[in-house]
Amino acid sequence: MTASIHSFGLDGLHCFDVTVEVDASQGLPAFDIVGLADVAIKESKERVRAAMRNSDTQFPMKRIIVNLSPADVPKNGAVYDLPILVGLLAASGQLAAVSRRAAFMGQLSLDGRVLPVHGALPMVRHAARAGFDAVFLPKDNLDEVKYVPGIALLPVGSVRDLLRHLKGEKRIPPAAAAQYRSSETHYDVDFSEVMGQQPARRALEIAAAGGHNVLMIGPPGSGKSMLAKRFVTILPDLSFEEAMECTELYSVARKLPDGGLIRRRPFRSPHHSASLAAICGGGTPPRPGEISLAHNGVLFLDEFPQFSSTLLEALRQPLEDREITVSRASASVTFPANISLLAAMNPCPCGFFGHPTKKCTCSPAAIRRYLQKISGPVLDRIDLHIDVPAVPYEHISSTETAERSADIKARVNKARAVQRERYKGRGFSKNADLTPAAVKEFCMPDAMGDSLLRRQFEADALSARGYARVLKVARTVADLAGSDAVTGEHVLEALHFRSVLRKYSL
Ligand SMILES: Nc1ncnc2c1ncn2[C@@H]1O[C@H](COP(=O)(O)OP(=O)(O)OP(=O)(O)O)[C@@H](O)[C@H]1O
Ligand SMILES: [Mg+2]
Ligand SMILES: [Zn+2]
Repeated sequence: MTASIHSFGLDGLHCFDVTVEVDASQGLPAFDIVGLADVAIKESKERVRAAMRNSDTQFPMKRIIVNLSPADVPKNGAVYDLPILVGLLAASGQLAAVSRRAAFMGQLSLDGRVLPVHGALPMVRHAARAGFDAVFLPKDNLDEVKYVPGIALLPVGSVRDLLRHLKGEKRIPPAAAAQYRSSETHYDVDFSEVMGQQPARRALEIAAAGGHNVLMIGPPGSGKSMLAKRFVTILPDLSFEEAMECTELYSVARKLPDGGLIRRRPFRSPHHSASLAAICGGGTPPRPGEISLAHNGVLFLDEFPQFSSTLLEALRQPLEDREITVSRASASVTFPANISLLAAMNPCPCGFFGHPTKKCTCSPAAIRRYLQKISGPVLDRIDLHIDVPAVPYEHISSTETAERSADIKARVNKARAVQRERYKGRGFSKNADLTPAAVKEFCMPDAMGDSLLRRQFEADALSARGYARVLKVARTVADLAGSDAVTGEHVLEALHFRSVLRKYSL
């Protein structure tokens, strides 16, 4: 007798249907799994056998063959324990036919408990899109998937619970669909704690409003790391769709925090000693790296020149394409990486080059070598360059409190709303994401702005990419000012943020 049970497979974030076919025939008892299964799946034989024995069911003494169809696509993980077990019971007549409108996923422990799987969210979202009526999934995956609309979610704690349900003895109640609310995000840090640094605050507000990349440069202790940590506090709350995208990535990266859903904009700050694979993604099967875990949020690279030049060059492609392709001998997978890059650095190895009072002890050659680690193409992709000088005593000792994050965020939200409305139905929602054609359509400045840009371009101070990037920033400056038109004034401010580093001859 044969049985077919529906389940799913993952290739990166891409989910596909898998049919678990089980055939139990007369002959010498045997148990084989075919269909490009990895080691974890092959081992599921032992888990399924023990879980059945410990759940008052009979492991059929037959010749059993399990085929994971489509047979020519690699599959991995322990997702198929539960569908294999259900298929075995159906194929051996211990269970009436199972609905073809339902899908199953779950790992088994030897005592028959159903354990959570990685990547549950992309699979359940796929199940809903593919039109399944119900999905049986591990109870501990429920927090992650309970916001997915349009499908009955049946959380399973153990094989016994599942069997009672399938035999109609005791129903598992479908989980109530949860309503997503972007959390009332509370942060432990606030912009009101940062004294002075007005130009840097302004630049970060622009970066938040348009989703642009930022490089901060300044001496030790001037507040660069402090500013970076507060950057997320002025970013708009995550929309439902964005929260789903982030959670899917964390789910397949096996980095999902307790509570399931990612509700806050990610802020990832990998150390400069982190490997290329940790930052860009890697492994078998390929998993997302820090740059994808920062998707829809911020990737903060502190001590920027300390990162290997291989890594800095590897960032060029994702910064442009807003996604990253992880290539392995066996497969290549693309993960989203729509990030705001926030980088911080000192102007020289000792940190005091250009400092008003302290003396820099580095040789000119050492300074050049240090700064040259940030290559032109990388720098060209960073829209806003900010000088973060040492804070003067009057600022640090001032008793006035600076503006709170909430007030800055209100302006950012307003500017983002304008952008969402303007770009409705176009596949992007913020100025940083504009395609070259969209730049031409939405960002063209007035005559004064145009002549400012021409002068910079003809003086070789601006590349073709730089030109488009300046226009996007100018668009954001205009949006913050509530202006429909991009004027010379907006272009001037955008250009200013590209010229700051000349003082360090960068
Ligand atoms: N503008 C500021 N307002 C208030 N406190 C500040 C400011 N700048 C620096 N500080 C204080 O100095 C500490 C160090 O600042 P921070 O770590 O941000 O410096 P940094 O610029 O990142 O230095 P480094 O280059 O050494 O990494 C902060 O934790 C804070 O207490
Ligand atoms: Mg720092
Ligand atoms: Zn120095």
